[in-house]
Amino acid sequence: MTDLSLLSLALEAMEKSYSPYSGCKVGAALLTKEGKVYTGTNIENAAFSPTVCAERVAIFKAISEGVTDFSAIAVVGGKNGRVDGIFAPCGVCRQVMREFCDDDFKIILGINEAEYKTITLGELLPLSFSPKDVK
Ligand code: THU
Repeated sequence: MTDLSLLSLALEAMEKSYSPYSGCKVGAALLTKEGKVYTGTNIENAAFSPTVCAERVAIFKAISEGVTDFSAIAVVGGKNGRVDGIFAPCGVCRQVMREFCDDDFKIILGINEAEYKTITLGELLPLSFSPKDVK
């Protein structure tokens, strides 16, 4: 699975966004170490706090099926579905990634198939609090 293919799956997932309150559509495509992809989109709620980000939907779908080893995630998003810049994962999603992923976990932040950048979880969440601090 190439970065670009993962990015197109994230763009496809974004179309399913349920975001009547913010108007921000977000899509994520999570690649497991075995090569399977779990997609996610953001799901908002009238009570606001139950809202879940696209990245966490993808990660929780995988975890709930017993899959816990991941190598990369592609994330795209934008107001009213217009992807004109990078939509970086929020702090809560970074912390959820930290729970299951190593520093070299790759995060592909896309605008379109021609413009995207990759960053690692170690770069995105330095000096983090992780399971090894608790176990
Ligand atoms: N959102 C995500 O899906 N992922 C992030 O990492 C940041 C924010 C969603 C949540 C909400 O539906 C909308 O974007 C605006 O915050």
